[in-house]
Amino acid sequence: MAEPHLAEKKILRVLSGETISPPPIWLMRQAGRYLPEYRELRAKASSFLEFCYTPELAAEATLQPIRRFGFDAAIIFSDILVVPDAFGQKVWFESGAGPRLTPIADAADLTRLRATIDLNRLAPVFDAIGRVKRDLPKETALIGFCGAPFTVAAYMVAGESSSDQAPARLLAYRDPGLFQELIDRLVLGSIDYLARQIEAGVEIVQIFDSWAGMLPEEQFARWCVAPVRAIIEAMRERHADVKIIAFPRRAGLALPEFAASTGADALGLDAAVDPFAAAKLIAPATALQGNLDPLALVAGGDALREATARILSAFAGRLHIFNLGHGILPETPIAHVEALLAQVRSGC
Ligand code: CP3
Repeated sequence: MAEPHLAEKKILRVLSGETISPPPIWLMRQAGRYLPEYRELRAKASSFLEFCYTPELAAEATLQPIRRFGFDAAIIFSDILVVPDAFGQKVWFESGAGPRLTPIADAADLTRLRATIDLNRLAPVFDAIGRVKRDLPKETALIGFCGAPFTVAAYMVAGESSSDQAPARLLAYRDPGLFQELIDRLVLGSIDYLARQIEAGVEIVQIFDSWAGMLPEEQFARWCVAPVRAIIEAMRERHADVKIIAFPRRAGLALPEFAASTGADALGLDAAVDPFAAAKLIAPATALQGNLDPLALVAGGDALREATARILSAFAGRLHIFNLGHGILPETPIAHVEALLAQVRSGC
């Protein structure tokens, strides 16, 4: 019999195989700059990483969207780039320019990093998880996360954001042994990091493979499917109860095979995926999460209503968690988030 506290959390019910109508909802990047209370809190830390590593601030940022909107899940406030930081790579965020890292170009650069992740450096994340657990409503699930190895490696190699991830893809072609070594370290580091998040109290983990869609098929199999599968297999051995969502953004036609090979409980779908096709092609035991275009949420009105209705009808009768197809945009009006929630909770 399911424990009563589990039964109250709709997302856990869906991830355990129960179809729920209307579906539960949370939004990727639901804590962030579109919220005035987030901007005020963010001003208290001198850098974005310091903000992530201050447990009181990270816990408060996690809870803000729950208080305002009552989403069905909270996601711990942090960033995927704390992992390179915990491997000893220099990471910083330049306002307006995004993340910066000292790039990894060759074997000597990789040698300068730690061979294993320094979990002590990430202790503030585990502390923040404990704080959030104490204050979260009993019906709200808590999600932990990490970046998938390929996506994190893409930032580690380029040292900055890139629209096509050419630096990482070139390194993978020119020196596959070196790239494999980087991916292998990230697989092991991600397993340890996620396991500690679970031990600190998260019930679900999401693996963000934001740049998976940049890779040709056989590169995708090697650098995305295999590492994510290795992480999921290890999590199942260590924490049989944890639910796992994988988000291989822009993976397109490779999605059904990705779902089958990795064994994720749910697949995050980006907005380019036709929800009717996904509902047909992906095995019904895999829950589907998504996939509203973040720009439809910025636009609001008919565009938002129609796109939302289409997603609800495509996934009716399926294991579905409503979400965006990518992170919420800073220019999103709060009234549009309220309208979306009202529509999803009305079920049509
Ligand atoms: O609310 C949540 O979803 C939890 C927090 C969260 C952040 N980043 C906070 C953040 C999560 C889950 C992430 C994941 C993340 N970070 C991804 C994967 C998802 C995706 O969007 O593709 C990636 C690729 C990153 C790396 C990253 N972090 C970039 C490229 C940037 C700069 C772009 C930007 O939006 O500014 C960040 C910074 C960042 N991470 C911010 C937030 C709220 C904005 C910085 C700020 O508030 O000062």
